[in-house]
Amino acid sequence: MPIQVLPVDTAPTETSCDALVAGAFSAGEGFTLSDTASAIDSQLDGYLSEYLQETNFKAKRGQLVILPTMKKTSPRAIAVVGLGPRDELDDRTIRRAAGAAARRLSERSEIASSLHELRQSGAAAAAEGFILGSYRYWELKSEPSPWKLERVLMPGATASDIERGIAIGEAVCLARDLINEPASTLTPDALARRAREVAGAGGFDCEVLDEKTLRDRNFGGVIGVAKGSEAPPRFITLHYKPAGAKGKVALVGKGVTFDSGGLSLKDAKSMETMKTDMAGAAAVIATVSAAARLKVPIEVLAFIPAVENLPSGRSIKPGDVIHHYNKKTVEVMNTDAEGRLILADALAVASENKPDAIVDAATLTGSIMVALGRDITGMFANDESLATELEGAAKAAGEDLWRMPLYENYNKELESEVADLKNVGIRWGGAIIAALFLQNFVADGIPWAHLDIAGAARAESDSDEGPKGGTGIVARTLLCWLEDRAR
Ligand code: BES
Ligand code: MN
Ligand code: ZN
Repeated sequence: MPIQVLPVDTAPTETSCDALVAGAFSAGEGFTLSDTASAIDSQLDGYLSEYLQETNFKAKRGQLVILPTMKKTSPRAIAVVGLGPRDELDDRTIRRAAGAAARRLSERSEIASSLHELRQSGAAAAAEGFILGSYRYWELKSEPSPWKLERVLMPGATASDIERGIAIGEAVCLARDLINEPASTLTPDALARRAREVAGAGGFDCEVLDEKTLRDRNFGGVIGVAKGSEAPPRFITLHYKPAGAKGKVALVGKGVTFDSGGLSLKDAKSMETMKTDMAGAAAVIATVSAAARLKVPIEVLAFIPAVENLPSGRSIKPGDVIHHYNKKTVEVMNTDAEGRLILADALAVASENKPDAIVDAATLTGSIMVALGRDITGMFANDESLATELEGAAKAAGEDLWRMPLYENYNKELESEVADLKNVGIRWGGAIIAALFLQNFVADGIPWAHLDIAGAARAESDSDEGPKGGTGIVARTLLCWLEDRAR
């Protein structure tokens, strides 16, 4: 369960709690305290600033010093967190500072924070940071969690100030939970059931197509990839339709609950984290749930093909030809390039609904990690304004995204002797070739963007914004994008 973030009426310095979080800014070689930190400093007769000087505190971003106040103030301890230079303060810094504080103060049950006082939009950013920073996946440990943090009080904030931060934070935690759950329990059917629950709680529609229906309706890519597994595929459609919607967009999320590679089997090392291969689906489910909770006035259709990619006597084989939903045929040269095969059907279905724009999120290629590293999402877009919108949304959300080219010359890599296309080309430029493949299934004239999150979907180490494991990346970007379009 995510922690609670609550507004309270008391002044920060008068709020009784296990610790009060207050900011400080770097200034030259030293630091300056925020008003709240400085008020606590006075209550402690200047001992706080003296202590900070003594411990060489420079107020660098994320630097954090905790000092017990020995019953001299209402908060039982003061936690001063560095925010860098005052004139560079942004939401991202507040979010990270809150996350860092949540992690360092995790053994106290009730803390208060004054970080929201420093900036207009600070309350939402701080709430989001506290929720993200205190996230842990503890479901499968036999010992109870040593993390005790239950509540963060925000003196002087209002419920509506923090509502958005809570909605986003909790949606990202939902995505992380889905990603971190092992593939043996989070099967395609389990993912569909979870999506249905989320839709029920959020008051939007969820429709799930089963294997027989998928076969009858020619979802050749979904059926083909799922063939090798005992777990039947599902195709999940979420539909959020608010009154007075300003336009209609479609989201598509790759939902491979486990990617062994199929007959083009991965090696053991590459398979270790392949339960993450449904992170696009998780981000999309999280986005729709947050949009519904915040009543964002835009209609959203979300399409999630969910399959497990395994080798068996029934698996799809290299050389097999798939008949996709939009009648195009694809020769499967490598069964490990499975994401694009299921997304092909989903993009065709999305196109059929004539949305104003389509955005897909997918852990699609190892190649994007070679190009951009672990942190950055690769974006491909067939439309300049959609690309600009997404760049702006990512910046506002505090997620890193970089545009990549849909370089047409590489289409020749996808020519097949027997079918309309083949599913892989040469290794070089693999993320671009994958994006070009997807473009074949988006109807002409629809602005479309593809987010390759293979790197950013999973963190290899802990950070201020969360632990090693599923990150929930692009849920925040997509939500910001929906909000911008609804304006
Ligand atoms: N799910 C993988 C991509 C991936 C790799 C995600 C590493 C996260 C970390 C995808 O299905 C895949 O296997 N792609 C292949 C494509 C290749 C066969 C053309 C790849 O990137 O190696
Ligand atoms: Mn694969
Ligand atoms: Zn995959």
